[in-house]
Amino acid sequence: MSKVEEIQNYLQQNQIDAAFVTTPDNVFYVSGFKSNPHERLLGVMIFKNAEPFLICPKMEIPDAKAAGWSYEVVGHQDTENSMEVLAQTIKDRNVNPSAFAIEKAHLIVERFEALQQSFPEANFVRLDEKINALRVIKDEHELEKLRKAAELADYAIEVGCKEIAEGKTEMEIVTAIESAIQEKGCKMSFETTVLSGPKTASPHGIPGSRKIEKGDMVLFDLGVNYDGYCSDITRTVAFGEPSEAQKEIYHTVLAANTNAIAAVKPGVRAMELDKIARDTIADAGFGEYFTHRLGHGLGISVHEFPSVTGANELIMEEGMVFTIEPGIYKSDVTGVRIEDDVVVTKDGVEVLTKFQKELIVL
Ligand code: GLY
Ligand code: MN
Ligand code: MN
Repeated sequence: MSKVEEIQNYLQQNQIDAAFVTTPDNVFYVSGFKSNPHERLLGVMIFKNAEPFLICPKMEIPDAKAAGWSYEVVGHQDTENSMEVLAQTIKDRNVNPSAFAIEKAHLIVERFEALQQSFPEANFVRLDEKINALRVIKDEHELEKLRKAAELADYAIEVGCKEIAEGKTEMEIVTAIESAIQEKGCKMSFETTVLSGPKTASPHGIPGSRKIEKGDMVLFDLGVNYDGYCSDITRTVAFGEPSEAQKEIYHTVLAANTNAIAAVKPGVRAMELDKIARDTIADAGFGEYFTHRLGHGLGISVHEFPSVTGANELIMEEGMVFTIEPGIYKSDVTGVRIEDDVVVTKDGVEVLTKFQKELIVL
């Protein structure tokens, strides 16, 4: 069943007249059309009992059709009010929706109010959870793309390790990694992070002109987008012999990563996985230095549903893909994060990222 049909069924079962999909990644999921509309309107309107349509900037109509969207594509021009074009197209279909499902976490207030004004009798309910529920289970086609994205991420780490040299800057290494991936015909899935020395202790640090020195640890966090699907990997390596304190942190994070991965299987709760990693780190005395959740869903978006936190009771199911990325950030010693991408299989786990995790000393 197509994604459009899945949403149509949902509308029929819940007596909702129309669903308006607006997150660009969700538009891609339901239509196959990948677009970054910036501030312009992009969306797919799916009806309980009428043909769906895709609305986008008029100049993108050929791209939407080429992407395989076989229903109507409605274009809006920069001189038009795109929300009026949207409302008129709905009215032209002779539907007067009394209930819309919208992405409440995404549709901006201005557009929501415009829809309300055009359809003053309509109720607005959430579509977010339905799309999350569809996207969270990956089919075999999606898994193949995720495997390939992860393989390319492994390669990117390999390139990064080879680039490390005394006096080279973090940004120079970022450039070498990104060029190597571009040569493979792909783009990164987010801005590549290379942090060295004390900067490794910043979970969201920004690479810059710091020059690599002997004795540094170097943290890579990167991902590749392969045919619309993302990978996300972190490895931390030592440049020169690490201190005992650095090794202790490294091995604690590695144990947290492998302990959590070993527990992945259908039926485990997200919060249980987070706890396994957190307990491993706390038992080694570093609890206060693990300052973020264990991981996040991964697919078309580099961060997507579900959030793997200590508060999420979600039960993991076959086909879910997410990251396992414990870290310890201790500015007087080092930061270490080790991140893998995993799939829940019928009876366990498949780890997509395969780059070595035993501590590499360069
Ligand atoms: N690359 C950001 C993260 O690992 O979540
Ligand atoms: Mn990452
Ligand atoms: Mn991540």
